[in-house]
Amino acid sequence: MSVKPPDSPFSDEIKQRLETEIFGRTIYHFDKIDSTNRMAKDLAIEGAGEGTVIIAEEQTHGRGRLGRSWVSPLSSVLLSIILRPQVSPTQAHMITLMAGIAAAKTIRRYDIDARIKWPNDVLIDGRKVCGILTEISAAGDNINFIIIGIGINVNVDIDSFPIEIRKRSTSLKAEVKKEISRVEFVQLLLKELEDYYNLFKEQNFVALSRDWKESSDTLNRWVQVTTPNEVVEGKAIDISQNGALIIRLRDGALKTILTGDCMHCVNGRR
Ligand code: BTN
Repeated sequence: MSVKPPDSPFSDEIKQRLETEIFGRTIYHFDKIDSTNRMAKDLAIEGAGEGTVIIAEEQTHGRGRLGRSWVSPLSSVLLSIILRPQVSPTQAHMITLMAGIAAAKTIRRYDIDARIKWPNDVLIDGRKVCGILTEISAAGDNINFIIIGIGINVNVDIDSFPIEIRKRSTSLKAEVKKEISRVEFVQLLLKELEDYYNLFKEQNFVALSRDWKESSDTLNRWVQVTTPNEVVEGKAIDISQNGALIIRLRDGALKTILTGDCMHCVNGRR
């Protein structure tokens, strides 16, 4: 590996009380970077090991899902983690769901009712507090690596969000009305991620689906899901054993959707 983790008091502090085996044992911390996912990808190509974490204070080109950008005011937690699971690429979306469960559970430890909008946005009272972007490199039936990128509005002031997303966004600080330790938050998040990842590897998504359902904001709601092929509208009634959303359409037929952009509707309206 040509790039060595730079010295960083923030990384050292995280490692001090970290309860994980491998997640976050190597941390690359940057004051400013284009995107932690981009950097994670480069490091993964160079051979960085599973559990390597890339954290930035600021991103100039943060990436969001579906080609969108991710705007992250200062005092967020912006991190990416490199995974090398020995599963088929067709199972990669379950790892994305797994990250959503871990993020929601971490936030709930602060007595906040964090809920997951399928597939893995984390919301508090309908406002987004955390976004997750999974990027995968595969060759045929094998995964080379998966990058899970997580952006959480931790100590962010609501006023620092661009006006167009302010109403739809919140932060942990805004919810608990005080700053929280970002070091402790990252430690807790990495522990939840590692525990759920191990459970997923041992028992597949079935073992995680109960926790996903418990944290879900999407189940029993009227939703509109845009997939690459169609727009599906109906009531979200369940999640399948492989992480697909099961929707009951107006005519009663069931539709199973593996990936898509989900919108919660109010009274059957967007
Ligand atoms: C989304 O909701 O659209 C996903 C947003 C993911 C943002 C995080 S921030 C850390 C990591 N680096 C990136 O460039 N994106 C992810």
